[in-house]
Amino acid sequence: MQKINLDLGENSYNIFIGKNYFNKIAGMIVDEFKYQKIVIVTDDNVEKLYLSDLLQGFNNLNISTFSYTVEAGEKSKSIRVLENLYQYFTECHLTRKDLIIALGGGVIGDLAGFAAATFLRGVDFIQIPTSLLSQVDSSVGGKVAVNLPQGKNLVGNFYQPKAVYIDVHVLSTLDRREFISGMAEVVKYAFIEDKTLFDDLMTYDLTSIEDHIIPIIRRCVEIKAQVVERDEKESGERMLLNFGHTIGHAIEKLTSYSKFNHGEAVGMGMVYFFRAMRARGMMTQETYDLSMALLEKYELDTYESYDIDELVEASKLDKKSDKDKLNIILLESIGKAYIKSVDFDWFREFILEGTC
Ligand SMILES: NC(=O)c1ccc[n+]([C@@H]2O[C@H](COP(=O)([O-])OP(=O)(O)OC[C@H]3O[C@@H](n4cnc5c(N)ncnc54)[C@H](O)[C@@H]3O)[C@@H](O)[C@H]2O)c1
Ligand SMILES: [Zn+2]
Repeated sequence: MQKINLDLGENSYNIFIGKNYFNKIAGMIVDEFKYQKIVIVTDDNVEKLYLSDLLQGFNNLNISTFSYTVEAGEKSKSIRVLENLYQYFTECHLTRKDLIIALGGGVIGDLAGFAAATFLRGVDFIQIPTSLLSQVDSSVGGKVAVNLPQGKNLVGNFYQPKAVYIDVHVLSTLDRREFISGMAEVVKYAFIEDKTLFDDLMTYDLTSIEDHIIPIIRRCVEIKAQVVERDEKESGERMLLNFGHTIGHAIEKLTSYSKFNHGEAVGMGMVYFFRAMRARGMMTQETYDLSMALLEKYELDTYESYDIDELVEASKLDKKSDKDKLNIILLESIGKAYIKSVDFDWFREFILEGTC
């Protein structure tokens, strides 16, 4: 078992990474913390696979444990589902001394985390992420949110969990498309921060990567933890984690969050930026070819062309933008990213050049 500490003063916590220790997690939580009552929030896919083991673990230790299951999918990150969750918490007489556990992918982590951040002005919560995307990204760093009809993650908070338990064994039941979605965030870390990770990923493929998944997840979590330690509230460096996301989010929005999952859209967002950087002379043909080769290896090299004005318009909803400026993430080289503040006309030209 490996342990990474995310140091945020009194909000510090440990992230545990290992394989086949799922049935020990309840015991670890009970040993470390003194909660009397627990509500586990999960979705209907993860419930069938993993909920009973976790419940059993707590029941064996005589901890009063409840569970609430929502429908799997992004639609559950809504105010309506949030309200049902609050209702359930009151029915369980949840108090500020109790614990909420998010058992599932990023949807569950964001939803249960936001519910925990706001119910009774804050109840402790723990993440047990089960998708690759949530293990390498969303469970770490404390961003929690629900969506509004107007856009994604528009109601949220920064609220750190008390601990994160990552068991890579659960990835064995994740379908291939969701695994690839998580790989988009993995390659993102390589591009923005870690050339060695990039080189390692180049030597694996979608089949052989399974044998290396613990060190890969560990590296991603370390990068995320370091960035969050330096810039918890995203006033600067944390924005680097949005590489590929400006266009990615815009494409998700233009396709009503139904055609692509998050990672697929982010993959395409990276392709748009590589093309634009090459066209601007900000990236050599050689680096472009190498970058695209990595995306292709993990089936993230899809490119579809969208109306440029619609793309730019959708990017205006990006939380990294103000009235007429947008912070975009560019690469100096593979493994080194920087933030550039641009106006929307500049951004439109930049993206347009890449599409020609
Ligand atoms: N908070 C953050 O910092 C942050 C970062 C990135 C993404 N996100 C959010 O995360 C969400 C996407 O997360 P996601 O990709 O995990 O989506 P998700 O939670 O919808 O999970 C994807 C699918 O995989 C299923 N699943 C999860 N674990 C499984 C397992 N072990 N076996 C079988 N099936 C399993 C789920 O039921 C779901 O159908 C988005 O809402 C995005 O906005 C948040
Ligand atoms: Zn993302």
